Amino acid sequence: MNLADSELVSSILIEAGHKLVSNIDEADLIIFNTCSVREHAENRVLGRIATEKFRKSINPELKIAVIGCMAQRMGKRLIDNYGVDYVVGVDQYLDFPKLIYENKGAITDPDFTQTYSGIRPYHQSKTCAYITIMRGCNNFCSYCIVPYVRGRERSLPAKLIIEEVKKCGQIGLKDITLLGQNVNSYSYQDINFPKLLRQLNGIDSIYRIRFITSHPKDLSDELIEVMAESSNICEHIHLPLQSGDNDILAAMNRNYTIEHYINIINKLRNAIPDIAITTDIMTGFPGESETAFNHTLQAMQEIQFDYAFCFKYSPRENTKAATLPDQIPEEIRLERLKRMVNLQREISRKKYEAKIGSEVEVYVESMSKKSARQVSGKTRDFKIAVLDGTEQDLGTIKKARVIASTGNTLLCYDRS
Ligand code: 5AD
Ligand code: SF4
Repeated sequence: MNLADSELVSSILIEAGHKLVSNIDEADLIIFNTCSVREHAENRVLGRIATEKFRKSINPELKIAVIGCMAQRMGKRLIDNYGVDYVVGVDQYLDFPKLIYENKGAITDPDFTQTYSGIRPYHQSKTCAYITIMRGCNNFCSYCIVPYVRGRERSLPAKLIIEEVKKCGQIGLKDITLLGQNVNSYSYQDINFPKLLRQLNGIDSIYRIRFITSHPKDLSDELIEVMAESSNICEHIHLPLQSGDNDILAAMNRNYTIEHYINIINKLRNAIPDIAITTDIMTGFPGESETAFNHTLQAMQEIQFDYAFCFKYSPRENTKAATLPDQIPEEIRLERLKRMVNLQREISRKKYEAKIGSEVEVYVESMSKKSARQVSGKTRDFKIAVLDGTEQDLGTIKKARVIASTGNTLLCYDRS
């Protein structure tokens, strides 16, 4: 979502006459687009700001801006305490050019109706596009800062989304990822998320559609049906589990049980054979006992995710979880995180190895970073694949056979 927001802000600034440079030494303005979900991400940005400030002595005109959730959360404190020039909150990007022109400091007033509808993002990639379909979140998971910094859910007009997807397809961005904190609750007039997907699936110029993020509490049968029926919707879903323990899930305010989650997985796997399931999981939520943590490991074993983004709980200002007793000490959180990561690594390795010998369809996204004679892309089930190829292959679909796996990349042989 931050990447999509960076493209939105790039578009607003380019429209106002600014230019992107490919080398940071040429920049007169360095913009940090930030995330507040975990403290670690915020600390890294503060470190980066401190290291980039030396450039001001070389180029006295240089300005540093912070945008995104951390800008929203910290506001003017970033100017007073960290020497930043501009701070722009998540709902104020349209006024960023004015702020630069007037050389003023911070604008972070929340506007919970802002959708930026009608602004065409500046798509950085030549092959794939991220398209925001909704902003904000109403779920208030007890650990999460997002609803506080991004406000309530609002969906973008379906007509504009469909137009943007069509335009992307026409310029060669044939792999679309729809974005929202909770895409299942997309709703614009009488169009819900499955209906939107049905309409997007009919667009000829597009090869592939994905979406993130789904919430297990309201992933509907209708959505599963649409996924199963629609040839352009990839066999992949990202469905954050967060914890495998029902008491922790309740304390997290997730509004589902592990039984409900597994039931959805079964439905998905029955309807869409070979669907890849990826997830977010957290350890160290306040009150998480060793038994509760083991329930998460058991759930991971049982479900066999293709990939999991594993996090250790990070207390966030103003959230309910930060005020709960029984916060878990850092060493325990870290040690549990390691166990979780190791378990998932092993599961992912087996999942990737199981692909060896099979036929896959690779959408070629970019040149490989490792070899000038290879290209890199993804399979329909969201696995990175590398095969021989040239620039001419970018944006095309290759039928390939998997010949080896490194655990997180498939090495393929082109058979198209
Ligand atoms: N601490 C750690 N991880 C968090 N996430 C959200 N809030 C926190 C937090 N306070 C994770 C969740 C979410 C992902 C985007 O970030 O797993 O799905
Ligand atoms: Fe945060 Fe929960 Fe909303 Fe996701 S659904 S953004 S974890 S509050």
